[in-house]
Amino acid sequence: MKRTLRYRAPGRVNLIGGQVDYHEGWVVSLAIDREVVVDATRRRDGRIVARSSAFEGVVDVAADGRDDPPATQPQWGRTVAGVARVLAELGRAPVGVDLTITSTVPVGAGLSSSAALEVACALALCDAADLGLAGRELALAAQRAEHVATGVPCGIQDQIASVCGRADHALFLDCRTLAIEHLPIPPELCVLVVHSGVPRTLEGTPYASRRAESEKVAASLGLAVLRDASFDQVRDLPRGRHAVTEMVRVREFADALRVHDLDALGPLMLASHASSRDDMEVSIPELDALVECLVDAGAYGARLTGAGFGGCVVAIGPAGVAATITDRATAAYRARTGMDPTAWAVRAANGAHRSDD
Ligand code: GLA
Repeated sequence: MKRTLRYRAPGRVNLIGGQVDYHEGWVVSLAIDREVVVDATRRRDGRIVARSSAFEGVVDVAADGRDDPPATQPQWGRTVAGVARVLAELGRAPVGVDLTITSTVPVGAGLSSSAALEVACALALCDAADLGLAGRELALAAQRAEHVATGVPCGIQDQIASVCGRADHALFLDCRTLAIEHLPIPPELCVLVVHSGVPRTLEGTPYASRRAESEKVAASLGLAVLRDASFDQVRDLPRGRHAVTEMVRVREFADALRVHDLDALGPLMLASHASSRDDMEVSIPELDALVECLVDAGAYGARLTGAGFGGCVVAIGPAGVAATITDRATAAYRARTGMDPTAWAVRAANGAHRSDD
């Protein structure tokens, strides 16, 4: 009988550290209790054949990575082909597999549904061909698959969070060294994610052009990345100012978590949102309204999460009243904007793994 193995990879929510991973900055995220699950069974014909409960059509690509990822149909199969291509380049033997994919990570929300898909597929494909890729190497391969499949120049934070997350902990990541510190999430806190009702995909937004604009600032200063810029250098350059001040906020946020200074967290998230809105210009009025509604409803802090331009806001508040906060906030937001929000209380989950259930 053929053996089917199951792989799980979580989505993530970025608590703070927007638009700085590609400048080798710092971020604080958590892997969340929403995940992509891939069931994999070996096949003998050297094909990777994938089906998804969320998307139409069957993806059928060569296991040796020779199929061009961007040309793969149906469209969602580009990711599968991207993973196959990147792993082949890393020496994976062309072992065929059937993949059956299900997901509880909302798509187009800023919760890294595509990173979770890349990571879950990569784990399944590596395991089937005995390619021992794990940890940061696995995350880097998944990130490269996104670049190859969609051309979106994403940073590394999503894939690292999906691979390296830990239950009940936030992940403080240095995107230069890829050093990780797992910081316990205080039990007094809840983490809320609210979808604004405005969908977006990374490809359909100015994410790449915002990235290019801030890279231009770095280049104008003779730097490769804004990690190495001082505040004085970027004082009058909004894109640069966002990156430099955001990196300071992230480290203060991590320090506050480390010493259990809960009062410091909310204001840092709000300052991050303001900078994302005013200096980086990746917010939209709906996200600004949602942040305000969450704070009015009792959240300590809130900010847009992910690439911006739609999708979700993340908030923290006192544990035990999550439902009260989200009920009040979503009602006020609905009345103010006419949009249809969706809210979840999320918990920090373990990173991607094979599971036998
Ligand atoms: C997307 C990208 C990440 C990161 C964020 C913005 O989620 O995939 O790498 O750049 O946007 O912080």
